[in-house]
Amino acid sequence: MPEDPSAFETKVDDPRMALSIGPLSSKRDGLPLRCVGKWAYDKIFHLYQYFGIFTNDMKSKWSGLNYVEICSGPGRCVFKETAEEVDGTALAILQHNAFDMVGAALFMDNDQNTVDILRKRIDLLELGGKARAEVSDYTDTSGLRALLRSLPAGCLNLVLVDPTDCGIPLAAIRVIRDTLRRADLIITVADKMDAGRNLARAITGPGFAAARDKYSAFLDDNSFFEHPDHLSWRQPDTEQSRRAS
Ligand SMILES: C[S@@+](CC[C@H](N)C(=O)[O-])C[C@H]1O[C@@H](n2cnc3c(N)ncnc32)[C@H](O)[C@@H]1O
Repeated sequence: MPEDPSAFETKVDDPRMALSIGPLSSKRDGLPLRCVGKWAYDKIFHLYQYFGIFTNDMKSKWSGLNYVEICSGPGRCVFKETAEEVDGTALAILQHNAFDMVGAALFMDNDQNTVDILRKRIDLLELGGKARAEVSDYTDTSGLRALLRSLPAGCLNLVLVDPTDCGIPLAAIRVIRDTLRRADLIITVADKMDAGRNLARAITGPGFAAARDKYSAFLDDNSFFEHPDHLSWRQPDTEQSRRAS
């Protein structure tokens, strides 16, 4: 992970690829990459810096430190705009100098293929002794709780929650808080990627009941969509209006 956001490592050949995972493979380790917008680098860079501050400041104040990532991705990314390849959040943390100060790291993603790729990257770095990747869907709060309980107890935890949309229910965040108890939480809120693009249609479109449920679970509150103004803006629920929305 370069400290200077403009200093990238590997160039990949074809800038036209814009898929979530693959078919582009890393020139460094031959494993598939996650395709992202270049803005994602800011997130990775700031996480990397915060991780250094967190570990150095907290290492002597706690019996141990854990790192947790929910929505980990496969570990390395490629920019769809420029085809430059960089570490994703997981590899940035695993290769950080301060990772020595972490006792256990747990990476979770709901996609089996993504988890398999990250497991291979963890093995290539020979970090399998203290880092692991597990399939976990954040909507399965009992599964999430069980995995979090498997971490060493009594530690301070740094938790990154990095979803692509507003699909993570507040109930899952409560499970993290109540299970780990001592945790710094960094949560990506996809306000522009999701809410900014879709919220207006979720309010007005009759066919957007699932989206309304998602946002209500995200906030753990459906009063927003039940507000009389918003109800009055909603189109009549006819087949034609549902198709249009
Ligand atoms: C924004 S990407 C993660 C990027 C990664 N943290 C990085 O910066 O390198 C979001 C990830 O969330 C995963 N995901 C989507 N829905 C999920 C769910 N319900 N539970 C857990 N992970 C989920 C996707 O498979 C994807 O890998």
